[in-house]
Amino acid sequence: MNVCVIGTGFVGVVTAAVYASFGNQVVGLDIDPQKIEKLREGIVPFYEPGLKELLLEQQAGGKLKFTVDYQEAVSSAEVIIIAVGTPSSADGQVDLKFVHTASESLAPYLSQGAIVVVKSTVPPGTLPKLKEMISAKAGHGNFFMASVPEFLKEGTAVEDTLHPDRVVIGATEESVFAKLEELHQPLNAPIVRLSPESAQMAKYAANAYLATRITFINQIADLCEQNGADINQVIEAIGFDKRVGAHYWYPGFGYGGSCFPKDVKELAAYSRSVGFEDNLLNHLNTLNEERIPMLMAKYEKAVGGWEGKKVAVLGLAFKPNTDDMREAPSLKVIPYLLEKGADIIGFDPKSVPVVPFFLKEHPHAKYTESIGEALLDADVIMALIEWPEIIGYDLTTARVTSKPQWVIDARNQFDAEKLTAAGYQYIGVGR
Ligand SMILES: NC(=O)c1ccc[n+]([C@@H]2O[C@H](COP(=O)([O-])OP(=O)(O)OC[C@H]3O[C@@H](n4cnc5c(N)ncnc54)[C@H](O)[C@@H]3O)[C@@H](O)[C@H]2O)c1
Repeated sequence: MNVCVIGTGFVGVVTAAVYASFGNQVVGLDIDPQKIEKLREGIVPFYEPGLKELLLEQQAGGKLKFTVDYQEAVSSAEVIIIAVGTPSSADGQVDLKFVHTASESLAPYLSQGAIVVVKSTVPPGTLPKLKEMISAKAGHGNFFMASVPEFLKEGTAVEDTLHPDRVVIGATEESVFAKLEELHQPLNAPIVRLSPESAQMAKYAANAYLATRITFINQIADLCEQNGADINQVIEAIGFDKRVGAHYWYPGFGYGGSCFPKDVKELAAYSRSVGFEDNLLNHLNTLNEERIPMLMAKYEKAVGGWEGKKVAVLGLAFKPNTDDMREAPSLKVIPYLLEKGADIIGFDPKSVPVVPFFLKEHPHAKYTESIGEALLDADVIMALIEWPEIIGYDLTTARVTSKPQWVIDARNQFDAEKLTAAGYQYIGVGR
C-alpha cells in the first residue's frame, strides 16, 4: 500500500517506520526541512529506543522515504496520515492550526478514492470540518476521512506501535474500515471499529483517565504521609483487585509530557463549553499544577531552606528513555530552586538535546555528564525521573562526607532503609 505520513515528530516517524516494516511504500513529510534532511541521513532528531535501527533498515530496503514536497508525498498515496502536533491554545482548547494547514496543503494532490486518516489527537466533530476544507481545495469530494488515534508512549514508542493493546479505527464507510484493517493487519492486534467521534473521544478519555489515576494516587500518598502508611504497600494491596489493577501507579510530582496536560485541558474546555463547569476534568490540571510547589515547600522545610544548598537534580526530561522536555518536572523544579537561592547541578543520561535546552533555560545552573560528579558534595540529591542510570546508581558509594545529605526520591525508586543506613536523610513520596 502507498502511504504518506504528514508530520515527522515522535508519532509520525515511528508510524512511518513501522508501516514501512510491513512492506508498505511509505513517504514521511514535514514542513521542517532540517528535520527531513536529518531523517534522510538516517538521523532521528530525538531519542526513542529502537527507532534509529528500524528507520535505517526501512530506508536501506527502499520502503521509507522523506520529503518536504506535498505533491511528491500525496499524489500516489492511497492512505494519507496526518500526525502533526495539536497543542493547547491560550484558553485551553486544542489549537488545530497545524492540522488545518496540513489538510489544505495535501488537498490539491489528493487522488480520487484516497483515505485521509487523522492520527493527531483532535476533538469529536473535527472530521466533517476537515472534509469540507479539503474538498474546497481539492475541487472534488471523492475521498474518505477516518480517525485512527495514537496510543503510543514515548520511551517505548516502537514497541507500543508494533504491539498495540488495540487499534481504534473511527470511520463511517465499510470500504474505509476494510482498507485500514488491511493496513493494520500485520500488527495482529484487536481492532475496534467505531464512529470517528467515539474514536476521538476514546483517545481523550484514555489520557484523562490516566491523568486522573496519577492525581488520585498522589492524593492518597499525601494522606499516607499523615498516618504512617506506605503508598508502595497500599498500591501493592489495591493492585490485587482486578477492578483496580497493579499497573500504572506513579505517585510523585504529577503528570507532564506533551499529551496529558494538553488533552485534559481540551476535555475540560469542552466540558465548560457544553455547560459542565465544575466536573472532575475541570479540576484535574489545577490539582496537578499545584503539586510541585506544594511538594517543594514541604521539602524546603525538611532540608532547612534552599539558600546556598547544592542540589543535584537527576533526570531532566519528562520521563525515562526520552529526551522530550515538554512539561518536564525539571522545568518547574529548577527555576523554583534557583529562585530560592540553591546552586543547581543537573544530570540526565540523554544529554543531547537536553543539555543545550537546560543551559538555555537555566543559565545560572551547571550541568555535568557524570552522575558521580553531580553527587559530589551535594547537600540534596533530587531524583526526578527513574532512568535506569539514575535508580541503578549506588548512592551509598557517593556518601563520602559526614555532613547531612538528603535524598529526595520523587519516584519512590530507591531503597529507603539502605540509604538511611548509609547516613542519608531519605524523603520519598507517601511513605
Ligand atoms: N508524542 C506522544 O507521545 C503522542 C502520543 C499519542 C498521540 N500523540 C498525538 O500525536 C500528534 C503528534 O504528536 P507528536 O508528539 O508527534 O508531535 P511533534 O510536535 O513531535 O511533531 C509534529 C510534527 O509535525 C510537523 N508539522 C507541523 N505542521 C505541519 C504541516 N503543515 N505539514 C507537515 N508537517 C507539519 C512539525 O514540524 C513536527 O515535526 C499530536 O496530536 C499528539 O497529541 C502524541
